Amino acid sequence: MKQTPTDFRAMKGVEPITMLTAYTCPVARGIEQAGVPVILVGDTVGMVEMGFDSTRDVTIEHMEYHIGAVRRGAKDTHIIGDLPYLTDKDPATALIHARRLIAAGADSIKLEGPKLDVIAHLVAHDIAVVGHTGLTPQTATSFKKVGSTSEDAQRIAEEARDIQDAGAFMVVIEHVPYDLSTRITAELRIPTIGIGAGPDCDGQVLVINDALGLGDYWPPFSKQYAHVSDTILQVAKDFRGEVASREFPNNIIRFTGTGNR
Ligand code: KIV
Repeated sequence: MKQTPTDFRAMKGVEPITMLTAYTCPVARGIEQAGVPVILVGDTVGMVEMGFDSTRDVTIEHMEYHIGAVRRGAKDTHIIGDLPYLTDKDPATALIHARRLIAAGADSIKLEGPKLDVIAHLVAHDIAVVGHTGLTPQTATSFKKVGSTSEDAQRIAEEARDIQDAGAFMVVIEHVPYDLSTRITAELRIPTIGIGAGPDCDGQVLVINDALGLGDYWPPFSKQYAHVSDTILQVAKDFRGEVASREFPNNIIRFTGTGNR
């Protein structure tokens, strides 16, 4: 059954929240079958799937396309859609774009930084909002950890509280010192979801490509549960070899299952 913002708020302090990103239908299907309650269609899609150097190259049309694909694969899972760079530059612009992501299949939207007037405006128009503080890639000049000085830590803690008070039902905290996310998690009423933010957050999110080992760079705080890039290389080599030797298609063992192709 699809979880709602109220369900996620009720999980705070009771049950850790698992979140994975997804960008495609079959991956979303697997995540739903595994019982993960929330999928983030993040603008990381630009970097991990589309080959851009920055999430700033992602457009609202890209997000609509990927949210649609993920929704077709995960009909019963809460989907968060990321508002791309500048599509949330003011409250009215953000509402137009948030409605497009909801129409594409998202249940809620996520936006980066303390855009408190934008969050309040979306919530006032019945759009459920997830905040994002700490490292915010759309405006960051590097991907290094943030919040290591006491001034920066204080700024991020205040941002998280302001995001909550503006009406967000959940907040992602990215790449900050563990003691800072512990403090924020204790201070907020809404769940915190950490990425590179230590074990004390109310939940954890991983970029699915990092978890799959699909790509060529893994952030140090991520974990590779598989090595799919190695599998792709091996499959392509095997296929190439078998076509060259004419082994394929002569060696096919016919699949007689329920496939539809
Ligand atoms: O865009 C994204 O995938 C994200 C995660 C890194 C939290 O914001």
